[in-house]
Amino acid sequence: MKKLLAPSILSADFSNLSQQIRYAEMGGADLIHCDVMDGHFVPNISFGPLVVDAVKRSTSLPVDAHLMIESPEKYIEQFAQAGADFISVHVEEVVHLDRVVNMIKELNVKAGVVLNPATPLTVLDNVLSIVDFVLLMSVNPGFGGQSFIGYTLEKIKALDKIRQERNLNFLIEVDGGIDENNISNISDAGCDIFVAGSAVFKADNIVEAVTKLRNKILSE
Ligand code: DX5
Ligand code: ZN
Repeated sequence: MKKLLAPSILSADFSNLSQQIRYAEMGGADLIHCDVMDGHFVPNISFGPLVVDAVKRSTSLPVDAHLMIESPEKYIEQFAQAGADFISVHVEEVVHLDRVVNMIKELNVKAGVVLNPATPLTVLDNVLSIVDFVLLMSVNPGFGGQSFIGYTLEKIKALDKIRQERNLNFLIEVDGGIDENNISNISDAGCDIFVAGSAVFKADNIVEAVTKLRNKILSE
């Protein structure tokens, strides 16, 4: 399975966003990850559909919208219209998970469900057969630049095992604290899509940072 690198613009310089996205693209990024935060579900505010629309118009890469917001079902259509190709919602927030996953898929968008580090995999049992991807948080969401929480590595391995046992083909995405030192281990654990914010956009050279991370997962 092809491994995909998804730089998160949360750590980008927003005064120069389209240029920064171009650098990420030049370095070999596969997706552009957009962290949408509402100050309620997470203790931070980032941006909404307007910025996702601007990202879409800055790149030919697929756009991955990670919704860290209350009642995400109310905004899914807006994010799809803004050009999101992947949309993920948190299981901790969504009461009618099956309904929301199907709502995303009906808009012809890849549907993902997200688990915070402490949320057990068992909540996914009944939706694994319908989701396109599962996003496992490896930090508590809300901020870029946090350290990877070690125990989530076992969670990635456990989810990969379930995927093999049940013969399913959803992708596993991992988000938070990924850098050039741990990305190979995360890849070995079964991750397919790697989100990296500060390791890309806080680097002196964004193109080189993306290429380095990309090469580590390519050589797997
Ligand atoms: C955390 C966000 C992440 C974050 C990743 O709430 O969902 O996508 O921006 O940033 P780094 O790679 O800096 O941990
Ligand atoms: Zn994210």
